Amino acid sequence: MNQPKVAIIGAGKMGEAIIAGLLKSGKYSPKDIQAVEVAESRRKFINETYKVECFSDAKKAVKFGDIILIAVKPSIVGKVLEEIGPTITKGKVLVSIAAGVTLEFINSLTPEEVPIVRVMPNLACSVSEAMVTFCPTPNITNEELTMITRMLSLLGKVMRLDEKYLNLATGLVGSGPAYIYLIIDALADAGVRLGLPKDVSITLAAQTTLGAAKMVVETGEHPIKLKDKVATPAGTTVEGLLELERGRLRATIVSAVTKAAERAKGLMPA
Ligand SMILES: NC(=O)c1ccc[n+]([C@@H]2O[C@H](COP(=O)([O-])OP(=O)(O)OC[C@H]3O[C@@H](n4cnc5c(N)ncnc54)[C@H](OP(=O)(O)O)[C@@H]3O)[C@@H](O)[C@H]2O)c1
Repeated sequence: MNQPKVAIIGAGKMGEAIIAGLLKSGKYSPKDIQAVEVAESRRKFINETYKVECFSDAKKAVKFGDIILIAVKPSIVGKVLEEIGPTITKGKVLVSIAAGVTLEFINSLTPEEVPIVRVMPNLACSVSEAMVTFCPTPNITNEELTMITRMLSLLGKVMRLDEKYLNLATGLVGSGPAYIYLIIDALADAGVRLGLPKDVSITLAAQTTLGAAKMVVETGEHPIKLKDKVATPAGTTVEGLLELERGRLRATIVSAVTKAAERAKGLMPA
């Protein structure tokens, strides 16, 4: 089946993760994707690594794409849309993954009839295990919505949310992998402290994290129920859990996500 063509404006960390995820899915081949980048070295890297055409002319990519995906920093979304916005025609869907940038702002720089989808994914797009939250404008047709959700689902698990939750999703979904990486590194440091080499310790910590998350996703059990299965009476785990509570792990994580979500609100281009 022919995939809708994707034009990615901004092939930085996230643009690259999306290219990698689409290709990894096996549904997309390099000819179905074009990328736009400002830096010559980055264009060369994307060309050579993924065999995806990467150039500096955003309008050319807009012509090519059925889906135009904006993956530049929030502060320059306005500048990019001033250039390409008026050239996006009916029949194409504009997707933005920029943190904090609202549908209303994007709509103000694009033709009224062009549907927009605000998306908050995370870096795990590259391994097709992202959490991908999204909210479309009301003018999107059912066919366009299906086209977008099909494409996004190649990158991970997809969930539609009301736009008012997308800044929260930025703090939890977008930033979340960084928090987990810190936890994995801390678990691995514990292994090192107890005598394990760091690389071995990272493998133990990462696979333990992966397995724990998979249990929540696949069993549908409440995480606290699963925690209680691990923590046997007078056992080792409950000692460790007590230390985590003393260190206010739970309150710290809640406050970290809250701070990140609040920051997302302040990212709107001036
Ligand atoms: N990183 C994450 O985990 C994450 C998660 C969810 C959402 N997001 C969102 O994804 C977007 C991209 O984030 P990122 O982390 O991938 O940033 P990034 O690595 O800085 O990528 C942005 C890329 O866009 C390029 N660029 C700048 N101006 C451009 C233009 N006019 N046309 C085409 N490309 C241009 C940049 O090149 P230069 O570096 O040369 O300027 C850079 O390579 C942001 O809006 C962010 O909020 C990020």
